[in-house]
This record gives sequence, C-alpha cells and structure tokens, in this order.
Amino acid sequence: MATGARPKVFCSWGFPEAGLAILREHADVQVWDGPDGAPRDVLLDALRNGAAGVLALPPTDRLNVEAMDLAPDLKVISGFGVGFDYVDVPEATRRGIAVCNTPGTLTETTADQAWALMLGAARHVPEGDRYVRSGEWRKYEPALLLGTDIHGATLGVVGMGAIGTAVARRARGFGMRILYAGRSRRPEAEAETGAVHVPLDDLLRQSDFVSLNCALTAETRGLIGTRELELMKPTAILVNTARGGVVKQAELAAALRAGTIASAAIDVFEVEPVAHDDALVACKNAVFAPHLGSATFATRARMSRVACENIVAALEGRRPPFLVNPAVWQE
Ligand code: GLV
Repeated sequence: MATGARPKVFCSWGFPEAGLAILREHADVQVWDGPDGAPRDVLLDALRNGAAGVLALPPTDRLNVEAMDLAPDLKVISGFGVGFDYVDVPEATRRGIAVCNTPGTLTETTADQAWALMLGAARHVPEGDRYVRSGEWRKYEPALLLGTDIHGATLGVVGMGAIGTAVARRARGFGMRILYAGRSRRPEAEAETGAVHVPLDDLLRQSDFVSLNCALTAETRGLIGTRELELMKPTAILVNTARGGVVKQAELAAALRAGTIASAAIDVFEVEPVAHDDALVACKNAVFAPHLGSATFATRARMSRVACENIVAALEGRRPPFLVNPAVWQE
C-alpha cells in the first residue's frame, strides 16, 4: 500500500449501508453489487489487486491458503457474523492477517430463531399454514396436526456459549428443565438458567428438544450422526441454528425417514444453499429455514457496523474491537 493512499477494501456482498458508510469514510470500497454475493474469481481478483481488507460472508466465502497466497496487501479479514470456520485462521495468523467477527451482535436474534424453529416444528406451523392455504380444511378436527408440548419438556443445549445461554434463558419462560453439554462447565449460565451440565450422550437420551449452538470446529464436525440420533427419544426434535457441518446430514435424513427421532428444525446445512433434491429436504417431518439465524433488520445493520468498524480499526493500526486471532496484534 503506497503511503498516503486510501486502502482498498472489498465487500463480497451489498452488506447493510449502516456499516459500508463507515468504511467509505476511510477506504476505497468496492462492493459486489451483483446477485448472490461475489463469485470466487471476483473475490480472488480483488485480493490480487491489492485489497487491504475484505468484508466477507461466512460461511460462503472461503478465505483459505489459495486466497491468501494471492493477497499481497491483505491486513484484515472481517466476517459479517460470528462463525469463522470460513477462514484458515492459523494460516492468517502466520501471515499477520487480522481475522475479525461480530460476537454479541446476533446472540439474541439467533436464539429467537432457534425458538421460532422449535415452536414451528413442535406445533406443525408450516404444515398448518400450507393446510389452510390448500383449501382442504373442512372443519375443526380433534386429531389434526397434533404436536409436542414444549412447556415442561426437557431442553438439551449443545454448546452453552452466548447463543446457547440465550436459548436456555428463553426456556425458563416455558418452564423447561434444561441440560447442557460442552467441553467446560459454565457456572454463570448455570446460575442464570438453572441448566445442568451432563455428558452429551446423557443429554441426547433425556432431552425432548436438542438445540445445537456450538461453533463448527474439528471437534464438533459431524458431532451428531446415526449413533447420536439413535440415543435420542423417538419423540425428540433436533434444532440446528449453529452450522450444518455439526450434523451428518445424510444420517439425519435417514433417521427422520426411519422415525428414529420425530422431527428436525434446520436453519443451516452442510452445503448452502442445500440442493432441492437433497435427502434431508425430502423429509416431511422437518422444518427448514434458509440460514436466517441473524436475519432481522436491526441485527443485520448492527453486524454490518461492527464488521466495518473492525476493518477500519485494523487499517488504522488500532486493535480491532473483535479480533479472533489476538496473536497477530502487538501493541
Ligand atoms: C452466521 O452464520 C454467523 O456465523 O454469524
């Protein structure tokens, strides 16, 4: 980057203006304004052409060795979201590239979505909607679309981080018993929600609803497969607002088909967008959303602001507010 020149920043999507406006005050900003987010070759070209910062969309954009090899001037990768499984973080750290995210911006909104899906699956909201629209509804029927009670049931939270805790907090209002599994005990979450820490297998055996809220890491990839689904109650409902890769998708589809569990409520898929002929999509006893965990006006604006503030800070030599790899930062 030439001294005095404004740094170049590439945005792989037309992210909310709330953040882009901040970015434009400090950088030459190139925003992909076509449909569907920037194709990979456009992202790679921007990196090759001297981008010092990139505002990327997790989990779609892949900021891997190939991308970093082409990026002589790259100083900061900022994700529009919390998950950073789309970046090779150790590689970025080796190269001194800051990796940033937006924790805290979407916690409550994503917990709301987990609950929307949980309620939708438990009480057949999408089927009921389709039934009313179909014109087939003739009378009030005692046995129509019977569901599962949420109040008083047992919720198992896998990954009691910020979002898991927010999901559990809502469960208190429904009078639920709350279990959680995860590497470490979370005394604050336990005190706030009354959740009890148990091994994952016990959580799966005892829960009526299992909510996945862990990050996708080497340890959690494929965490839920046939063995785990078989531990669950045949009446249980699996809710995934974390990452598709936490679940072995084909094995979930098989379990839903076989009635191993009652239903699933799925916001995230192994590959997004999921193919419309994927075996999971064919399962009638599931409710889907197209990765809408953080999709509210207010939250998406907040995410954009924080993601852009991270970039501006890094380019100005200040420590970004939310740095995933603090090892790159020496004051
Ligand atoms: C969205 O999926 C995020 O990682 O925030």
